[in-house]
Amino acid sequence: MRDLVKVFNISLSFNHPYHSKGTHNSFYMALDVLIGLQWGDEGKGKIVDYLSTDYHIIARFQGGPNAGHTIVIDGQSFVLHTIPSGIFRDGVENIIGNGVVIDPITLLKEIAALEAIGVPVRERLLIGQKAHLILPTHRWLDAASEQAKGKKKIGSTLRGIGPTYMDKTGRNGLRVGDILRDDFIQRYEDLKRKHLQLLHLYPDVEFDMEKEEGHWLEAIEAMRTLRQISCEYYINEALRSNKRILAEGAQGSMLDIDYGTYPFVTSSNTVTAGVCTGLGVSPSTIGEVIGIVKAYTTRVGGGPFPTELHDEMGEYLQNEGHEFGATTGRPRRCGWLDYLQLNYTIMLSGVTQIVLTKTDILNQLDTIKVAHAYQTSNGETLTQLPYRLDGEDITPIYTDYPGWKTDLNAVKNWSHLPTATQNYIHAIEQNTGVPIRIISTGPERDALIVKRD
Ligand code: GDP
Ligand code: IMO
Ligand code: MG
Repeated sequence: MRDLVKVFNISLSFNHPYHSKGTHNSFYMALDVLIGLQWGDEGKGKIVDYLSTDYHIIARFQGGPNAGHTIVIDGQSFVLHTIPSGIFRDGVENIIGNGVVIDPITLLKEIAALEAIGVPVRERLLIGQKAHLILPTHRWLDAASEQAKGKKKIGSTLRGIGPTYMDKTGRNGLRVGDILRDDFIQRYEDLKRKHLQLLHLYPDVEFDMEKEEGHWLEAIEAMRTLRQISCEYYINEALRSNKRILAEGAQGSMLDIDYGTYPFVTSSNTVTAGVCTGLGVSPSTIGEVIGIVKAYTTRVGGGPFPTELHDEMGEYLQNEGHEFGATTGRPRRCGWLDYLQLNYTIMLSGVTQIVLTKTDILNQLDTIKVAHAYQTSNGETLTQLPYRLDGEDITPIYTDYPGWKTDLNAVKNWSHLPTATQNYIHAIEQNTGVPIRIISTGPERDALIVKRD
């Protein structure tokens, strides 16, 4: 497998001859980025785990335990929420960057589960001091906010993400570095008191303060033994000493706080720009931008989704693709691929290559559809995303591609793929202008094909 990764990287360097970056007096490695180009759950975890053999450092830069990144090793499935997906690889450092929000309880549970199967997590894990902490009260405020929205609720994972980022931008938050300060408990009490005042307004939100706080404080105690770093110095120095770094995105580009389907979004920047603020690196350090695309589209939670299928085909994709949330277990809404949506997120993040996942889920279909335009009720044809995606008058116009009706799971070579599969992949490349480098054909680590043509 390592050979395949090498081949993959040869093609990377071929694309970008200056894979290292330079200023007038210094040269350093570029930092590659991997992000989801749809509404999340594109298979980022699996691909980061696969690629991580060729990186020294994997770094999460935004989001928190709302993420659920699945990695399947020898038939056993692991879901990571806060820890980067390079954790299973010997010799790879995993950084939870400054832009991430951390729930100490979830983090400690994740560490315990990994240690139980023999993964030396503590040797491989580093935490940015400027990452913000999720308090138990943040989770309840999340529930209160959703309750107040009623039918217009976002469908949040209720992990406290929104309220924690609100405290960060409101300059009230607690950070990882603060847990080493003598006045930490006092600062925690101050913030908790503010939250409890707010929660008084929502008598329907029930919580067990004593129990949850006890768990949280125990987890904080345990977190004091984890390695903290100045993420920005650590990463920039690593780049200068020619370490290869991959930034692992969470959520998807359409859930970006600024450019997603607002207000049905998460509370962080999920596009490439988020890497710079989340890790403390300059835009000039960014190298390859790998966009993960599921061969169809899914979304979990509320909000617009133009190519959503409300028919048997939607059900088929949900069942065949086991489309149930890795964090909340909720069913994921399913629909066709959408070139307008993909071209938008490719543009936002400067995507240089695509990894196409879950291609095998389409194996038995006669016809595969991809939206290439939207028709509005007043006769307009749109080829770019409009300001509002939830207008009732948008109807996607589809291109039909013939299916391949072949089991792809056994195929290991690009040249052995059915012509119809190759044509579908070439069509996506032509319509997005971005080369597809890997085609994933199953959940297992090495169920994929590195494209060479
Ligand atoms: P992430 O959040 O982007 O890491 O994705 P999730 O882990 O939430 O969801 C992706 C799901 O698809 C997981 O259950 C993966 O094991 C699975 N998966 C990833 N790639 C493939 C693939 O190529 N084929 C199939 N059948 N499953 C895949
Ligand atoms: P990964 O990293 C899919 C969605 C939620 C909700 C909205 C806001 O596994 O791809 P939040 O909890 O952030 O307040 O929820 O965003 N959402 C995700 N959907 N995959 C995820 O992460 C998601 N993280 C958040 O369902 O609609
Ligand atoms: Mg997920």
